[in-house]
Amino acid sequence: MNRKKIVAGNWKMNSTLDDAIDLVASMKLKSKNFQEIEKIIFPPFPFLKTVADNLITETNFFVGAQNCSEHLKGAYTGEVSVEMLSSVGCQYILVGHSERRHFFNENDGQLILKIQHALNNNLKVIFCFGEQLEERKNATHFETVKQQLENVLKVFSEQQLDKIYLAYEPVWAIGTGETATPEQAQEMHAYVRRIITHLFSNEAAGKIPILYGGSCNAQNAAELFACADVDGGLIGGASLKADDFCKIISSF
Ligand code: 13P
Repeated sequence: MNRKKIVAGNWKMNSTLDDAIDLVASMKLKSKNFQEIEKIIFPPFPFLKTVADNLITETNFFVGAQNCSEHLKGAYTGEVSVEMLSSVGCQYILVGHSERRHFFNENDGQLILKIQHALNNNLKVIFCFGEQLEERKNATHFETVKQQLENVLKVFSEQQLDKIYLAYEPVWAIGTGETATPEQAQEMHAYVRRIITHLFSNEAAGKIPILYGGSCNAQNAAELFACADVDGGLIGGASLKADDFCKIISSF
């Protein structure tokens, strides 16, 4: 199955507006020869509109938000709705990132609401999941991932799944410099496709993009992207440097 190749950059809580503008200008230039690769960047909320405006004429280069509210609108001080995000040019939302699950205690019910709101507003979703170190050590990582996927995806239809990408991000690899080996990534991605077959269909499993995230960088991207079931990466730290991010884009 010929799936899209995708590189997404999650800037997390980094950068300033000036740095964001420079970074995007540099990424635009350096990624010119890789128009067939889908590129998505996830800047912090305050820079979304500026970054989206800067990318509007680019081919296959999109902007997404790192989070959205589980509420649609109203008296929720400090929250940001999907409608607001869509109105400033966002086309994607990250849902289920381990930092949101762990630091902000987001649960499956909230993740479902966020995905529903995103899809209802014509935004695509990158749904993140992955086991913690303890779970890998005691060999419950497959069960953890199965639960994370089933608990949330079971409420969506196969048609809705068309607007959802998956990102396997083992928590022990995020920001640690310790990457999953290509064998570990491939093994989990193939397992995830079996879960999707079970929940939806063979066809859905064959076409859904599954990204790998967790200390993916300019040095190790090529061996990870060479795995049959790895369709690209969700990049944290290395997405804050245009050279590194574009090297990753060129790693397929
Ligand atoms: P790092 O690439 O910094 O490990 O972060 C991965 C990540 O969490 C992307 O969402």
